[in-house]
Amino acid sequence: MTPTDLAGASGYTSSYLGDPHAGQLARLRTLESAFDPLSQSVFEQLALPARPAILDLGAGAGSLAAWLVKRYPDARVTATDIDTRLLMDLPGIHVVTHNAVTDDFPAGSFDVVHARALLCHLPEREDIVTRAITWVRPGGWLVIEDVSLQPSLSTANPLLRKVAQAGVTLLEQSMGSDMRWADTLPRQLRERGLLNSAHRTLEGRIGDGSAADTFWAATTAQAAPALLKRKLLTQQDLDAMADLRADPGFTETALTLVSAWGQVPALDRKHAAPKEIHHEP
Ligand SMILES: C[S@@+](CC[C@H](N)C(=O)[O-])C[C@H]1O[C@@H](n2cnc3c(N)ncnc32)[C@H](O)[C@@H]1O
Repeated sequence: MTPTDLAGASGYTSSYLGDPHAGQLARLRTLESAFDPLSQSVFEQLALPARPAILDLGAGAGSLAAWLVKRYPDARVTATDIDTRLLMDLPGIHVVTHNAVTDDFPAGSFDVVHARALLCHLPEREDIVTRAITWVRPGGWLVIEDVSLQPSLSTANPLLRKVAQAGVTLLEQSMGSDMRWADTLPRQLRERGLLNSAHRTLEGRIGDGSAADTFWAATTAQAAPALLKRKLLTQQDLDAMADLRADPGFTETALTLVSAWGQVPALDRKHAAPKEIHHEP
């Protein structure tokens, strides 16, 4: 593994999303509140060994890593990010500065490799999935969770559609994000030969005061200056969207969190083909 300096590490750090200004931690907290319940429910149903080694890749502000340490007190939990500043105060977690695009881990290092809301933002996403599989021990699990904005791109509401399209364009142009890629996750894991693959989704609504609504509003607010600067939206659009969201009669599905997981097969060395693995529950 070659830890990479923060400077020039990826488009994410220099984009509006990764801009380490004061609002970033607050925005990540809204993301965690919206998505932690699904992520935790996925971990709860994985068969893990007594002392699992767990990697949270691109761990952000670390709420999931902190939960993992409490949930599995005998686990070794590693949390990585290109910017580890928000992870430094978390007790019991092994924090590593690591660029998922360029840095590796030795083969078979972990019982679980997890990444949430990371790969949709990295153009090298499919290569990272392939490399992350090699970091998992045979019988261990790869868990990938990402956000799809497809619901708001295909909504009948023209204003929400316009705001979503502007956000997707900004993300594509500024860092090569693909905000529909999450929908392909179940297929991606199946096609890579992972066993027992499955997925769950969480529907994120806006206009209902939910955790997803708060996350959506915080992200839109953080993106606003860049959206205006690139003329993707006008201030009138943003004001109209704020009014719509505040309208008691309005609520709409804006995003989906797709959580997909699968088990890394053991290699039958004679035939170099994947072998079915059975875990004791
Ligand atoms: C949207 S946040 C998600 C954080 C966390 N996974 C969560 O779901 O709460 C994306 C995180 O990925 C990190 N990141 C961006 N590019 C990265 C890269 N190339 N390697 C590792 N982490 C990266 C960012 O610094 C940020 O903390």
